[in-house]
Amino acid sequence: NELGFDAAAAEKGGYDHFMLKEIHEQPDSLRNAIRGRLDFNLGSSVLSGMGTSPRDLAEIQRVVFVGCGTSLHAGLVGEYAIEDLADIHAEVQQAAEFRYRNPIIGSRDLVVAISQSGETADTLAAVREANQKGAFVMGLCNVVGSTIARETGRGVYLHAGPEISVASTKAFTCQVAVMLMMALKLGRGRRFSREEGMKFAKAIESIPDLVQKVIEQSDRIAAIAARYAQNEHAFFIGRGPMYPVALEGALKLKEISYIHAEGYHAAELKHGPIALLQEGTPVIALANDIPGKDKTLGNVEECRARGAKILGIVTEGDHEAAEFMDDVIEVPATHPLVATVPTVVALQLLAYHIANERGCEIDQPRNLAKSVTVE
Ligand code: G6P
Repeated sequence: NELGFDAAAAEKGGYDHFMLKEIHEQPDSLRNAIRGRLDFNLGSSVLSGMGTSPRDLAEIQRVVFVGCGTSLHAGLVGEYAIEDLADIHAEVQQAAEFRYRNPIIGSRDLVVAISQSGETADTLAAVREANQKGAFVMGLCNVVGSTIARETGRGVYLHAGPEISVASTKAFTCQVAVMLMMALKLGRGRRFSREEGMKFAKAIESIPDLVQKVIEQSDRIAAIAARYAQNEHAFFIGRGPMYPVALEGALKLKEISYIHAEGYHAAELKHGPIALLQEGTPVIALANDIPGKDKTLGNVEECRARGAKILGIVTEGDHEAAEFMDDVIEVPATHPLVATVPTVVALQLLAYHIANERGCEIDQPRNLAKSVTVE
């Protein structure tokens, strides 16, 4: 216009795309998600919205996460956290699958509906099914007053702020942060001593800084992305809590760059996908310094032997792991479950820069909607 003011650009806060803006907002959105929710004295977390009395907490015998898309992947991280830290059986079900399979759930099951928008049709239907079966149901939503938030009656808001980009970024990292706090709360009184709880609370508190360190590498990641942008296929591999991160990394890449990307458990590689590896096929290996790393490095070797080009996500300073890779992105050292957050941010940036290099419509990918309110 005459004043040279571009409203659309202003909305994006100077970034080329909402997705990039939202990636950069993560340290702040995570701070908002965590603020006031950690109790360092008790080594626990305060999630009053969960609406659980100590007796309720003691009675929970299973946690079932339901969701779709990126929220489903967040649930897979939550599953690891709940089992590992709280010693409670946890599982994740795709929301549509949950609603139609006549799930076995009762009053001692905690069903957690994960949804950024709080409007996803299948997730909402899963909530109704769980309510009807008398489960203890809670929502993990970003949009305040959304249908799922209202129908669950109890839950924890993400406080990630509005997410515009179709490809979800900050909602995912806030979902994981909140689930880590849930696991801490459920874990105290079960697997976690006060001291261990305090230590884990500190690790959660550090998440925004860890993420900031990855974001500062954005230019480096863009330079790496330029070398992978011409490929039409990519494989993401990981183990343990990095397995769902591999799934999410692949989803981000396919959503916005239209590259055929698959996330696999590193151990599944030799059960099929390895047949597809050729000279130069990219394999993005999540080889963080966490239990299972050596096995993942073994899988990396198998990929290299077939000519694959390896981009490793490794823990800062891990020169041994870096040796196995053609390219490396470093993420800071931290607790293995906490490491999922900075690691996924590295993959968000990778997907963004690859899609940008390919000239894709990043904020409005073809055929995708921000909120899926039909089955
Ligand atoms: C759509 C969006 C995804 C999102 C999924 C679940 O497919 O494009 O980014 O992860 O819905 O949305 P929800 O709002 O329930 O988290």
